[in-house]
Amino acid sequence: MYGMVNKAVEDMVCTQFGESVWEDIKSCAGVDIDVFMSNEAYPDEMTFQLVSAASEVLKIPAEAVLEAFGEHWVLHTAQKGYGGLMQANGSTLPEFLANLPGFHSRVQMLFPKLQPPGFECTDVMENSLKLHYRTHRAGLVHFVIGLMQGLGKLFNTPVTVHLVESKEQGADHDVFDVKWSNDAIE
Ligand code: HEM
Repeated sequence: MYGMVNKAVEDMVCTQFGESVWEDIKSCAGVDIDVFMSNEAYPDEMTFQLVSAASEVLKIPAEAVLEAFGEHWVLHTAQKGYGGLMQANGSTLPEFLANLPGFHSRVQMLFPKLQPPGFECTDVMENSLKLHYRTHRAGLVHFVIGLMQGLGKLFNTPVTVHLVESKEQGADHDVFDVKWSNDAIE
């Protein structure tokens, strides 16, 4: 994955736990890189090693690390460098989700070698939809859950996300039931 992903993991850990914890995580992961280059591709394996080392060092499940990372991605990484792209994709949670399927093709203009996730929305109702998530990568379901929770916070909209079909359990791809309320978070 592009270096911006590892950089975002670094930013999340340093902001929440400090730089010395990040150094511990890198050495636990066996990653000997001082500065990740946003525009360079790194092996996916490296990102997964950093996540599992973070889980070990922080003593929290890898799923929780991925969820925190998803939130951080939406609320900090995407806002900092790519606020325009985010704003153009919608100004409410349902609008943003409806436009999600085309989102990474715009990201791909900035990152030509992107191997993007595929999203599709079905069963769209006033307060819910089914979000279909397709990827060649395994193990990122909780990242998607964190992304949805981050979007809920971004749009000040209470949201719940449940995995209703799982690729790990034999389904063709992962499907999430996403529900939101129109009452703004206090
Ligand atoms: C402007 C903001 C964003 C940028 C610049 C961006 C960019 C990227 C990049 C560089 C990757 C790594 C893939 C690779 O290097 O081949 C990635 C992966 C991913 N992105 Fe985004 N993204 C953004 C926002 C979002 C949002 C809002 C969502 C969903 C709500 C999302 C969902 C994902 C997922 C699930 C992956 C994991 C890859 C996979 O499933 O195979 N991204 N994105």
